[in-house]
Amino acid sequence: MIERIQKIQQEVEAYVFDENQKAESFRLAYLSKKGLITTLFDEFKSCSVEEKKSVGSVLNQLKRLAEEKYQTQKEVEETQQEVQGSGEDRSLPVYQFPEGSLHPLRIVEDRLLEIFYSLGFDVSEGPEIEDDYHNFGALNFAEDHPARDMQDTFFIAEHVLRTHTSSVQIREMEKGKLPLRLVMPGRVYRNEAVSARSNCFFHQIEGLYIDKGVSFADLKQTLYYFVQQFFGEGTKVRFRSSYFPFTEPSAEMDIWAGTDTEENRRLTKGTGWLEVLGCGMVHPNVLKSCNIDPEEYTGFAFGMGIDRITMLKYGITDIRDFFINDVRMLKQFSGV
Ligand code: PHE
Repeated sequence: MIERIQKIQQEVEAYVFDENQKAESFRLAYLSKKGLITTLFDEFKSCSVEEKKSVGSVLNQLKRLAEEKYQTQKEVEETQQEVQGSGEDRSLPVYQFPEGSLHPLRIVEDRLLEIFYSLGFDVSEGPEIEDDYHNFGALNFAEDHPARDMQDTFFIAEHVLRTHTSSVQIREMEKGKLPLRLVMPGRVYRNEAVSARSNCFFHQIEGLYIDKGVSFADLKQTLYYFVQQFFGEGTKVRFRSSYFPFTEPSAEMDIWAGTDTEENRRLTKGTGWLEVLGCGMVHPNVLKSCNIDPEEYTGFAFGMGIDRITMLKYGITDIRDFFINDVRMLKQFSGV
């Protein structure tokens, strides 16, 4: 009996449907009351117990195979009928919709967020129109600090267009929930002459980590990890001491681009080093203005220009290209 089952199994497997052999003919031949498989089941009833053991599962497998094959074909025929009935011509070519693409700044921001998510950072955003206090005062800028000057800042009546995303640090610390581990992307504005290298608005991503016992070593390790992920394993970095009113000590981080090519020499002004961000330990005065006790908590912060690292990553030489909305330019970029 096993041999006959196997023979029918081969037949079923090889069965090809066409105009003359439709689902219904298949059903009649194998699955109907007088079909071959049904007849085998009748025979099976009179088998000995021993035989039943070996034949049972093979026979069931054959039945399942035949039923599946029948069902699939039946569905195919039903859809064919529907299509014919509706008068649609499904063989017509589809209308080509122009496909959108992500803006290069969006691609890079998404990647940055992904890297910091993997380190346990959350994301947060703040307003672009700020008050003097959040943009400057609470960040330890002295009353006469030149950054408050009309030359750098756009004013809207009593407010300013934020000049950096550091204002979002203050908004988050004010909420009074610690520890904080956040990245804060967004658009910032500066009243600067527009050129290939600088625009009156651009994008930054701010980082902030406040907890008990956060040290400069944590800052370095975090940024080091970020650089390896974003710019590639083995990318060299260096920290140069710097000054920001809201961090102490402060530093700027450079990555090694090399001096091999004309492009690299131009970008790095011959030094081989490219500045990518500012950072430091959150100044005790900043913590105090947000009611955080600097004796108990410490933290680090960093801020980098998204436009700048996008230009580095893709070799874009004019920042204005991001904003002229020429799709031929914007369409070229894929994931980093
Ligand atoms: N806000 C600084 C800038 O715009 C960058 C920065 C952020 C520096 C955080 C230190 C800490 O240049």
